Amino acid sequence: MNPDFSLDGKVAIVTGACKGGIGEAYAHALAGAGAAVVCADINAEGATFVADAINGDGRAALAVRVDIADETSVESMVAAATDRFGGVDILINNAALMAQIVMTPAMAYGRAEWDRAFAVNVTGAWQCAKAVAPSMQARGGGRIVNQASAGAFPAESVYGITKIAIVGLTTTLARELGGYGITVNCIAPGIVASDAGRMLTPEDSPYRQMLEMRAATRAVGQPDELCGALLMFCSPAGAWITGQVLNIDGGFVMRP
Ligand SMILES: NC(=O)c1ccc[n+]([C@@H]2O[C@H](COP(=O)([O-])OP(=O)(O)OC[C@H]3O[C@@H](n4cnc5c(N)ncnc54)[C@H](O)[C@@H]3O)[C@@H](O)[C@H]2O)c1
Repeated sequence: MNPDFSLDGKVAIVTGACKGGIGEAYAHALAGAGAAVVCADINAEGATFVADAINGDGRAALAVRVDIADETSVESMVAAATDRFGGVDILINNAALMAQIVMTPAMAYGRAEWDRAFAVNVTGAWQCAKAVAPSMQARGGGRIVNQASAGAFPAESVYGITKIAIVGLTTTLARELGGYGITVNCIAPGIVASDAGRMLTPEDSPYRQMLEMRAATRAVGQPDELCGALLMFCSPAGAWITGQVLNIDGGFVMRP
């Protein structure tokens, strides 16, 4: 039998689904596979742009403004998804602070900045998972995909510390939720040419050249190049995959 990558009838929330980001590509990929998609971002205008484009393609999407660090805001996001589409089957924990925090040395952080980095990148992802799990359980199962980073292997920044925590969140939730038919996996991209990725690594900069040389394929990635793995994790084809971290980075990080 051929593997089934269809998401017909499923409802997905993508956090960080904003114009110009990886979440935009994720939202389109999930919608293209048949899911109704909630495009959730702290940038309401950017999320609306993505949802409008999906609706314009004849698929179903809803834009929601959310601050994933705020529990009430996360609960409202899930309530909006449930009101509109009846529940939640898929959560993509993609929203994070990256460009805003990645260059600051850990020793230069103030306590408030440190707390905000963890509140968004770690607590936010946990909070979203906690908020959707009851709906997934009631619907007989679900899929959670967290977004880590090559920058977690090894962590060499506060950003990297938050992303290795996402790996721990993935394995922990996979263990706790597996009995409910909910799988939890993680994508760890290398440098991806989203708007933020391009801004961090300008094309002809020595930093970009160094990163490209370190990748086995000598290339940075495009947002679309993450979407095949996303669909595998979210669809019936990936039903027996859980607790896994997939480095998608052209061979930047390689593990036995
Ligand atoms: N671009 C890369 O090279 C790269 C590499 C590895 C991992 N990543 C990860 O991929 C994800 C997307 O990255 P991107 O390149 O699209 O960057 P991005 O900055 O465009 O995406 C992050 C999104 O999260 C949103 N966001 C930030 N704080 C939020 C909050 N409190 N509540 C809700 N939304 C919030 C932002 O508005 C933004 O749309 C992030 O988790 C990032 O860490 C990116």
